[in-house]
Amino acid sequence: MTTWSIREVPVSETVDGNWLLHGYTDAINDVIVSTWGNHDFERSAAEILGSMHDQQYDRKPRLVAVADDDADTPDPARVLGYSAMILPLQDNTHTAHVDLGVRPGHRRQGIGSSLYDTSLALVREAGRTQVTASTDHSVEPPDGPGTLAPSTGAGRVAADADGPRFALQRGFALEQVGRYSVLDLPYDAELIAKRADAEAQAGPDYRLVSWQSHAPQEWVDAYALLLTRMSTDAPLGGLDLEEDVWDAERIRRTEKQWQDRGLELLVLAAEHVPTHTLAAFTCFMEVPTTSVFVHQDDTLVLREHRGKRLGMLVKTANLQRLAVERPSIRRVGTWNAQENSYMLAINVALGFHPAGGAGEWQLKLG
Ligand SMILES: CC(C)(COP(=O)(O)OP(=O)(O)OC[C@H]1O[C@@H](n2cnc3c(N)ncnc32)[C@H](O)[C@@H]1OP(=O)(O)O)[C@@H](O)C(=O)NCCC(=O)NCCS
Repeated sequence: MTTWSIREVPVSETVDGNWLLHGYTDAINDVIVSTWGNHDFERSAAEILGSMHDQQYDRKPRLVAVADDDADTPDPARVLGYSAMILPLQDNTHTAHVDLGVRPGHRRQGIGSSLYDTSLALVREAGRTQVTASTDHSVEPPDGPGTLAPSTGAGRVAADADGPRFALQRGFALEQVGRYSVLDLPYDAELIAKRADAEAQAGPDYRLVSWQSHAPQEWVDAYALLLTRMSTDAPLGGLDLEEDVWDAERIRRTEKQWQDRGLELLVLAAEHVPTHTLAAFTCFMEVPTTSVFVHQDDTLVLREHRGKRLGMLVKTANLQRLAVERPSIRRVGTWNAQENSYMLAINVALGFHPAGGAGEWQLKLG
């Protein structure tokens, strides 16, 4: 019978010799590949360590379940499961996010439960009064028996899948379902027509500006406002989360973190020329583990600028830019709340097809 111990992954200077970090990374990748059947979300040890180095706005404890071994051999294969926690330190200090995974060959032995119990003790000790967790699903089941809907009524997860069973047993409520969608590239000529149409509807008051990972000083405050609004304007379902405030200092610090992790952003925004502010933005995130896949990250149009096709404009323009600047990319993946009908309508019109989903769970701690 396997026995294991729970340990914390050390925050070392470099990845060299940090075998718990390598085991943690391998376990995450095992869970990703078994869940999704592809490598698009795979992580690297250097990228994970880069994230752990920056804990200014979030505390990020990383636990691993390590198979017991008399000699305490430094073998990453001994890491059987992991727990990654995020404890916000600026806003949302009432909550913690816990992401648990156990390598497929080692499930149903109690490893997930012991990682969860240790994580929950840490979360309580930090004074948090709620926990959120996500479960990933490579297909969204059709409505029917054996499925669960969140409080919003939009989207479904299979109630008897490993993650939902685990969460339900521990008292979590399903508060939101996210849809994962993929767009296959290269894009056809229709993109140019869609952009032209959106540009015509937006009119001459808007001008596009773009940058990579470093926001120009001219736009950094306007960009901070967009990021702040992103935290509450994207639908939250029944999740009890507050505004997450961004300012120039946080943007600069996070840019440094992206750089340390080898992540690159392709940001494209719409300037409202008469007021010299940013009205909308969208962003791709490139990850160091692949040159064929990018994440379509945040997209937002400020409330006062909605209804002018700016969402379609920034997305089509950034896709055209991607084709020129990153011609090797073959797939774009994106997440949206199932109740986010406006954003989903744009994505469907662009050709994104459903490719799975996620349950967003919440537990109030008594
Ligand atoms: C969810 C997950 C972390 C659970 O890990 P695990 O190590 O299998 O968890 P446990 O063994 O502690 O518990 C899982 C089940 O095995 C049962 N179990 C525990 N010890 C057992 C044993 N010795 N023999 C048989 N069954 C056992 C538990 O009672 C539980 O049963 P349930 O599903 O009916 O509730 C794992 O399935 C996973 O990695 N899934 C993908 C990632 C994911 O969804 N994470 C989000 C979790 S909220």
